[in-house]
Amino acid sequence: MISDSLLRARTFEQKYIAHQDPKRPCFHVTGTVGWINDPNGFSMYKGEYHLFYQYHPYSKEWGPMHWGHVKTKDFIKWERLPAALAPDTEADRDGCFSGSALELADGRHLLMYTGVYKECGDDLAIREYQRQCIAVGDGIDYVKCEGNPVLSADNLPEGGSPNDFRDPKIWKDGDGFFAVVANRAADESGSVLLYRSEDGFHWNFVKILESNHDAYGRMWECPDFFALDEKQVLVVSPQDMVPMGLEFHAGNGVVCMMGTWEKESCSFHRERVQSMDYGIDFYAPQTVETMDGRRVMIAWMQNWATSRCQDPAADFFGMMTVPRELGIREGRLIQNPVRELENYRVNRMSYQNVLVNRLLNLAGISGRVMDLTVLIRPATKKGYASFQMNVGEDGEHGTSICYEPGSSILKVDRTRSGGRFDIVHERSFFVRPQEGRIKIRVIMDKNSLEIFVNDGEQAATFLLYSPVTADAVSFEAEGAALMDVEKFDLVV
Ligand code: FRU
Repeated sequence: MISDSLLRARTFEQKYIAHQDPKRPCFHVTGTVGWINDPNGFSMYKGEYHLFYQYHPYSKEWGPMHWGHVKTKDFIKWERLPAALAPDTEADRDGCFSGSALELADGRHLLMYTGVYKECGDDLAIREYQRQCIAVGDGIDYVKCEGNPVLSADNLPEGGSPNDFRDPKIWKDGDGFFAVVANRAADESGSVLLYRSEDGFHWNFVKILESNHDAYGRMWECPDFFALDEKQVLVVSPQDMVPMGLEFHAGNGVVCMMGTWEKESCSFHRERVQSMDYGIDFYAPQTVETMDGRRVMIAWMQNWATSRCQDPAADFFGMMTVPRELGIREGRLIQNPVRELENYRVNRMSYQNVLVNRLLNLAGISGRVMDLTVLIRPATKKGYASFQMNVGEDGEHGTSICYEPGSSILKVDRTRSGGRFDIVHERSFFVRPQEGRIKIRVIMDKNSLEIFVNDGEQAATFLLYSPVTADAVSFEAEGAALMDVEKFDLVV
């Protein structure tokens, strides 16, 4: 039996399920209609990958959170499914916030999410409380547990806030389960709490896995915790970050901590911290382990601070990044678009040893739904002082990706990308060239630009607001650079 609220959401979104709005990207996940934010419940279930998302179908603004739902076999072609959760029980009456999912041994799909309820205190202030809830289902319909919430204020460590206690990420471990949950600690900054369960339904607090201590932002949201190559990785999305050189930027960011995990004592030893993405529009990522053992991450391709910048003509707001395969190389986390994307490449165009010492365009190198890789190196001993590639151009618009070997800084500027708001448009970050050589891969899908440098050493994600007819690409250099270019259209 589905509730009236869920039925209402499903009825409302019905006419958009098969709708092909030309404004939609070709292979990036969007919501069926209305607003979306964080990816949720990214999991393998009965041989397919399911993805849910924070969803407010009724408007393009954030509102009482539902869970929208899609699934895929290859991370590129997605099938829309009816909304999975609505805020319709006592435990989640004001919202079904972010969470995760996995397949139980008995074939049921288990969702663990944050149930939100608001209450008016004696001081007449309305406070929001967050607790963890469970629902189980068959990949379409989910039933919420009678015992919800399964984790509440009683399961918090001393000083832990019941108002900021959210975003459980669950995983299977041998015969049991673990979950990490974000919490605001007594010092007002974030921590990640570890819980354990025998059956996925009854949970006990284990320990504080990691704490912010007021470094790396304030409250940490959306934790994820997984083994990657020989390391253990903790990913968190901090609010209120302050920049540290070029490594982090102000506001909401995503931080990746690499270290080791001692399972017996449930201890995480942090060794290294880095930004997950150096662009503007990337938040709240979540990962899944694939059938062939890859760790694939997807994130909300948006920035909370700029989420007012909307296209009034579109019936949807918000989308996900391209799913990315994670790895570790020379101690750093690397990420590249899932290899399945290569199955959708057509119309290969390539050039070798092109001299760039002035502004130039190359025949056949253009597009707004494309996979473009450029390999740059010095043409002479003196080399080049800067190399710039401009994408999404039409005379009025354009986004520049500029590399300066002298400083090893790559700068992306989308000031002329059609945005009508006076928001942040630039990001700069360090890259690691080898003898002036740098490889830049660009994935565009209409209004998005995802940049991968040197086979995934850095990723940088940007939304573009320009019309999709702005599809020209040009190259320029100060000094003399040589480049190889390979471009494919992506047809999904
Ligand atoms: C992160 C977040 C989560 C929360 C959700 C609410 O973007 O704030 O912490 O569960 O969004 O929609």
